Amino acid sequence: MDIWECSAVVTGAASGLGAETARYLAEAGAKVTVIDIDGVGVQKIADEIGGLAVHCDVADSLSLEHALATARQAHGAARVLVHCVGRGHSAPIVGPNGPMPLEDFRQLVEVNLISTFNMMRLAAADMAQLDPMENGERGVILSTASVSAYEGQSGEAAYSGSKGGVVSMILPAARELGPLGIRVVGIAPGLFGTQTLFNMEKNLDSRIANQIPFPHRFGDAAEFAMLVIHVLKNVMINGTVLRLDGGYHR
Ligand SMILES: NC(=O)c1ccc[n+]([C@@H]2O[C@H](COP(=O)([O-])OP(=O)(O)OC[C@H]3O[C@@H](n4cnc5c(N)ncnc54)[C@H](O)[C@@H]3O)[C@@H](O)[C@H]2O)c1
Repeated sequence: MDIWECSAVVTGAASGLGAETARYLAEAGAKVTVIDIDGVGVQKIADEIGGLAVHCDVADSLSLEHALATARQAHGAARVLVHCVGRGHSAPIVGPNGPMPLEDFRQLVEVNLISTFNMMRLAAADMAQLDPMENGERGVILSTASVSAYEGQSGEAAYSGSKGGVVSMILPAARELGPLGIRVVGIAPGLFGTQTLFNMEKNLDSRIANQIPFPHRFGDAAEFAMLVIHVLKNVMINGTVLRLDGGYHR
């Protein structure tokens, strides 16, 4: 896809992987709308890249529809959606105070999984109305999973479950939306040095980074953003979840 002047929406863009992706997209000439629950943080990113900031809790379906309508009004229907919103979570199923509150799991699924499907359906409906580009492509939907979807640690059953759902929906969505010229791709990051990681890993130290075969360090958000740009440009990447983890298996 030619990113120049195309309308792009990035969620979770106030920080970490989403913020850097928004920077890369703007640098590539896209008209970027950045969405986040952190209104101040997302406005800062929008000011930096000359984009549009929308404050929104993606767990609130109406608010999300409104956010996309605001983006559409400003930049036209998005051809690119990069859904980076996610909440880390690490807690035992049964802890010292008894079973994990079910509500914690519900909220996690709401933010990590339900919002992914919600973004997908809303963005795809908009993309389907767009004229196809030269190669017949109408848009790309990129969602963020995690290597925890495959190899969750002890204490990550809830988080891994929420990300496993993201992985499972990529192929069937690509099969369904392919005839409309819409590609659907997932990225499963390993360990990236962002707030989500710091929230989940209580004892982060160099030993964890040393378990990454190469390079022995946490991923940089720019490496995630570079992959997003490549996926957008490379039309053959579709219906798959790409691991970005330095060979790390937990
Ligand atoms: N950092 C890692 O090591 C790692 C590993 C695997 C997967 N991931 C995934 O990558 C994605 C990006 O995470 P990150 O590492 O950049 O973390 P981050 O904490 O820096 O960014 C997450 C962003 O999502 C926003 N957000 C959270 N809940 C929201 C909501 N309900 N509505 C709107 N915005 C909300 C936060 O305000 C924040 O700006 C997440 O889906 C995360 O699960 C990260």
